[in-house]
Amino acid sequence: MRPFDGRRVLLGVTGGIAAYKTAALARDLTLAGAEVDVVLTRSAREFVGAITFEALTGRPVHDQLVAAGHALDHIRLPREAHVIVVAPATADFIARAAAGRADDLLAASLLAAGPAPVLIVPAMNDRMWAHPQTTANVARLREFGYYVLEPDTGLLASREEGSGPGRMPEPAAIREHIARLLEPASSLTGRKIVVTAGPTREPLDPVRYLTNHSTGKMGVALASAAWRRGAQVTLVAGPLDVALPAGPRVVAVETTEQMAAAVRETLGDAEALIMAAAPADFRPRDVAGQKIKKGAAAPAVAMEFTTDILKSTRDARPANCVVIGFALETQDLEAGARAKLAAKECDLIVANRVEADAGFSADTNRVTILGRDGAREELPLQSKTAVADAILDRLAGMLDGR
Ligand code: CTP
Repeated sequence: MRPFDGRRVLLGVTGGIAAYKTAALARDLTLAGAEVDVVLTRSAREFVGAITFEALTGRPVHDQLVAAGHALDHIRLPREAHVIVVAPATADFIARAAAGRADDLLAASLLAAGPAPVLIVPAMNDRMWAHPQTTANVARLREFGYYVLEPDTGLLASREEGSGPGRMPEPAAIREHIARLLEPASSLTGRKIVVTAGPTREPLDPVRYLTNHSTGKMGVALASAAWRRGAQVTLVAGPLDVALPAGPRVVAVETTEQMAAAVRETLGDAEALIMAAAPADFRPRDVAGQKIKKGAAAPAVAMEFTTDILKSTRDARPANCVVIGFALETQDLEAGARAKLAAKECDLIVANRVEADAGFSADTNRVTILGRDGAREELPLQSKTAVADAILDRLAGMLDGR
């Protein structure tokens, strides 16, 4: 089963250079199982032709409000769609949509839309985005209940580095937002969840540090899946080997002490804390101010413990906050995990064996979930995304019960 099987997407394209990225999005959604109905405005056709979108989606492209034999496309297309996306949305299109115009097929389709959520993905020059007229138009669209993405900052079509936002987000990020809008409301919708991911680095001198093999894959899978289910997710991330997810708010940290501080700061109103990170447990006691030179003998490094983040939050957790820890063991997995569950006062602990196709850098994981109440559930080897969903199902059940 592909993630978008059975899903119908009305993909509106307006006339901006970023339309070339929308071709990639159309292909990506189609390969993921979606039926993508592309609607082009007149100026969009100047940028990417209908033939390109027809070839990528395998479906006819629509660009006429009154096409021979299809006079009611503006009623039919939005009604059949599970989600309506406009990418790129130019300043002009945003102004037309805010004014309620129905002067082309795409604008008319928005007016005729039924319950399907609408995602607007602006892309324009940074000065046009910053103009109060655009700000007011965007505010109006949000009043209608449309989801309007914030544009990225970076290289603009003019090959200038924009000094502010304006650039269309990448197709992968837009796809994540579409997936979230397609998700039915669940027990995680609106919940405030803090997830930690990745290793930390403990400096030895200005050029060296102590760390571990954690990549952050499991934590990022959890943060993404929770966000897709509608949660308000803060991801406290050490230096990761994987891309940061599109939706969650990210707090980037380097050392275990920084991670501890970030968790403490975000924990205030959290309804769940998921500690998937592998923070370094020790750090060099003295950090050299200059690079340590090769002397006659190799240096002996004295170490000290870092803060145990989970333990340190025991008195600071909001009442009813569900706490999920991980336990990584190379021997006596379950006994070790149960001891950590108790010592760190977790509600659940996810016991992780270190083996070839599970653990740090693998895309798959084999875990056993242990509960404070004695529950024990062994999960099969599966993708880290599937493991994340299984953990979140348990979390949703616990949140419902509180
Ligand atoms: N953890 C933490 N703070 C640390 C180290 C670990 O909060 N300084 C959390 C991890 O995020 C994980 C759980 O504690 O959720 C267990 O981590 P693990 O590395 O398995 O155990 P440790 O407590 O570090 O114990 P040991 O290294 O002795 O196995």
